[in-house]
Amino acid sequence: MAVMFKVLCFYVLPLLFVSGQAQQILESSFNQDANGNPQPQTDPTAVPDVKPKPKPGNDVGAENAEPGFTGKWELVSDNSGVSAMHAILLPKINKVLMYDATIWRISKFALPPEKRPCHVVDAAKKIEDCWCHSVLFDIDNYQLKALKIETDTWCSSGGLTVDGNLVGTGGFMNGANTVRFLDTCDKCDWREYPTALADPRWYATQITLPDGRFIIFGGRDAFSYEYIPLEGQANKKSIFFPFLRDTSDNIQGNFGNQKFFRLENNLYPFVHLSPDGNIFVFANNRSILFNPNTDKVVRELPVLTGGARNYPASGMSVLLPIRLHARGNAEVKSAEVLVCGGAQWDAFFYAETKKELLPALRDCGRIHLIKANAQWKKELMPSPRVMADMMILPTGDVLMINGAQAGTSAWGDAEEPNLVPVLYKTKGKKGNRFQELTAGTIPRMYHSVAVVLPDGKVLVAGSNTNDGYRYDVKYPTELRVEKFSPPYLDPSLAQLRQEINVEKSDKVITYGKQFTVNVGSKELELNRNDIKVTMYAPAFTTHGVSMNQRLLMLGTVDVINNVWPGIHSIIAMAPPSGTVAPPGYYLLYVVYKGVPSVAMWIQIK
Ligand SMILES: *[C@@H]1O[C@H](CO)[C@@H](O)[C@H](O)[C@H]1NC(C)=O
Repeated sequence: MAVMFKVLCFYVLPLLFVSGQAQQILESSFNQDANGNPQPQTDPTAVPDVKPKPKPGNDVGAENAEPGFTGKWELVSDNSGVSAMHAILLPKINKVLMYDATIWRISKFALPPEKRPCHVVDAAKKIEDCWCHSVLFDIDNYQLKALKIETDTWCSSGGLTVDGNLVGTGGFMNGANTVRFLDTCDKCDWREYPTALADPRWYATQITLPDGRFIIFGGRDAFSYEYIPLEGQANKKSIFFPFLRDTSDNIQGNFGNQKFFRLENNLYPFVHLSPDGNIFVFANNRSILFNPNTDKVVRELPVLTGGARNYPASGMSVLLPIRLHARGNAEVKSAEVLVCGGAQWDAFFYAETKKELLPALRDCGRIHLIKANAQWKKELMPSPRVMADMMILPTGDVLMINGAQAGTSAWGDAEEPNLVPVLYKTKGKKGNRFQELTAGTIPRMYHSVAVVLPDGKVLVAGSNTNDGYRYDVKYPTELRVEKFSPPYLDPSLAQLRQEINVEKSDKVITYGKQFTVNVGSKELELNRNDIKVTMYAPAFTTHGVSMNQRLLMLGTVDVINNVWPGIHSIIAMAPPSGTVAPPGYYLLYVVYKGVPSVAMWIQIK
């Protein structure tokens, strides 16, 4: 306990002292006396759509849909058991893995009998933790399944193996150097290795490499990266990465017994695998391309002006969809990154020391990764956004959702929840790319998540701006789960939705080889030009960072209509290599006239 308190002081108290809440927070952290019995809600409360529907015509597609449908929200569960700080859709089983942290020793879902005995926190003091901190949330019936985790996953990272199992990394205290594994089998539960990483990884970013290995960058005071070891192995040392040291912000001065105020602004760096094999790393306002084969920085990109973009100034970033050709791609020559929102560089200082919440950033920068001398192209979002999520939709457009309009990440440091999702039209003309969608009603700020689902909806969960589970405050710990339907799910476009015939389609595909997707269709025939086949890598989402998120737009080689009555055959070209599409499970969508089908899981290796 003494050790724990010391570490808590070192890490947590500097963040809290200024608000004078440390004592109260410590007490509330260890309060075992909560009343949350597990009561997963199974009663979805979808509101039927009663708007008049435009008459379907042959040329109706999502691009020229009635302007009336700007998306729809549904509350699907009142209790996700744990407040979803981290979330990822697991392949094959269609469940979203959600977890928060063990430090609070509380959630809204008690450990069920089959998962007992409880976790022993301190044997001498007889302190136990009898709550779930990770669950599987069924995206169809909203039931919860309990999992048992021992190490602290607070502000951790993760990704999926080639076989679709989870590898999670880092966290707090005994979780910081941990590598943990979770397979998707029915009885599976966490396997944890607390000494597997060389450096502590608290707020680090993990991505998948072309050969299926993982690399992890950063974390608090970890100016390094390392390759995640296989199960049962441990790293002896990490590799120094000065870029993270050089992008860490501090304010010098006298702050209690500290000689500086820790701003950082470079935690949870944005990391994307460029289809040329280099790794794009963005931290604070700078970015580099890094070659993992030589461990060398290849090129530094221009500074993105306007403020800070990484935790706690949490902006958001995606690698924009990668377009491939029907005839195959020897190499991909174009890839772009989008970075949006964030906070002024000293916003965290004002939030923590003065409770003054500065307006979030409103600008986006977009840059080419492969073209030398590329510059950031700037645009303004309709509203400011910090700690939000940016999700790539099956169509290739980008959804900006969740977050706040003022303040920064950290407990109680934000206001003005941004309830209005924004659609970013990737191929739209400059000045015409943003569309505001139907506003939600539930604030989703610090520690909230978004997950792209097989049916093209986006699941939204979490938000906990409190240190612990608290319900008596302005922004209570959020356990409600919603689904958001983007405009392409306009009910009047439903007849355009193709239905993938999973039985009759290729589910394991090979790099550079053609494969077949069969769709049941209401159309007598499909025109190749109206079809896009896209592949989405499920993202590990936490703190506005969606690790490994990636969408590939495949080349459509051919369409053979009516191979069986009402079934059309689409021949698509698989991505050329693991550099373009790291091996593993993807959601495969057939997008027809801008309307995505329900996805099918495919595996590429
Ligand atoms: C980038 O961020 C650093 C650290 O906050 C700041 O000193 C610098 O002025 C910024 N550069 C630009 C061009 O905005």
